Amino acid sequence: MNSRIHNFNAGPAALPLTVLEQIQAELLNFKGSGMSVTEISHRSKWFDQVICDATTRVKRLLKLDNNFHVLFVQGGASMQFAMIPMNLLPEGQSADYVDTGTWSTKAIKEARVQRKTVNVVASSEDKSFSYIPGDISFDRNASYVHITSNNTIKGTQWAHFPDTAGVPLICDMSSDIFGRILDPSPFGLIYAGAQKNLGPAGVTLVIIRQDMLERVPQELPTMLKYTTFAEHNSMFNTPPCFAIYTIELVLKWLEETIGGLEEMDRLNRQKAEFLYQAIDRGQFFAGTAEKHSRSLMNVTFRLPSEELEKQFVQQALENGLGGLKGHRSVGGCRASIYNATPLEAVKALVDFMEEFARKHG
Ligand SMILES: Cc1ncc(COP(=O)(O)O)c(C=O)c1O
Repeated sequence: MNSRIHNFNAGPAALPLTVLEQIQAELLNFKGSGMSVTEISHRSKWFDQVICDATTRVKRLLKLDNNFHVLFVQGGASMQFAMIPMNLLPEGQSADYVDTGTWSTKAIKEARVQRKTVNVVASSEDKSFSYIPGDISFDRNASYVHITSNNTIKGTQWAHFPDTAGVPLICDMSSDIFGRILDPSPFGLIYAGAQKNLGPAGVTLVIIRQDMLERVPQELPTMLKYTTFAEHNSMFNTPPCFAIYTIELVLKWLEETIGGLEEMDRLNRQKAEFLYQAIDRGQFFAGTAEKHSRSLMNVTFRLPSEELEKQFVQQALENGLGGLKGHRSVGGCRASIYNATPLEAVKALVDFMEEFARKHG
């Protein structure tokens, strides 16, 4: 393959081409430093500017006030599954979790491993996690409510966040952060592994509200405390500099090229609608998520047989459309259409799907 393909990978995933080109252009000499961004000190004025700009952009895009802290943490979103109860769920109290599939199931497990009291107040396991539960009653005394806003594997997404009557919401937004308009006010903490909508793997964005920080116990190991990251501008130790630098460029692209979150939201809805319409048009493709729970980011579907699915994924790749195989735990097909995937890629996919259905339907 000599040219770039349309990339539908679930994560690590497509990055905006202009961002990759900028990285390429300044890789050997970053901002006149005479060094690569991967070679400069994280204590240098150059990197200080990068992390400050990345933080400012996160705050501006999500309209966060000074009550929120922006942290860059390592260990992936999976590390947050453990850090959240460790930091924010005191002894003798409980937290409510909603189980919408693999990632929330793992978050529940990591809290229970620490012998924390977790109440699973709703689950969609009865229908193989194909929907987002509604009408949930939450415990008003819970320390927090944990949800996964977008379920990358099953292709479901919360269309509206639940009303928790003032109990702080904690949300895994790994696969839809900055993908749509967001009101941050009900959230005590938002986290997202970078490798889908934000940048390369290796860093997790954590947005934490001041009152949550005040809960953090003193006696935790230094690198497992949110306060360590908040008090040292995420530089208590060496941060993942290259990943944070890329995030800054991606957010710059989102603000300056796309035009902000409202426009990104509109574009993402347009892409998803286009693709779901193609799935719903005939009998050949079948969406796996219930319609009211469909994800704007990960579009999951089946073909009439596993054999056809195999051929579909293979022939798509031969036609320059990559990453369409469903997650190994569920099979089928999945097109991840994150922020950096243009409408043009979705159109190319729909053309291919129609052609494939015509031949094999
Ligand atoms: C919604 C969600 N949460 C958590 C994770 C795990 O992320 P990480 O690999 O950064 O630990 C993923 C990975 O795909 C995900 O999609």
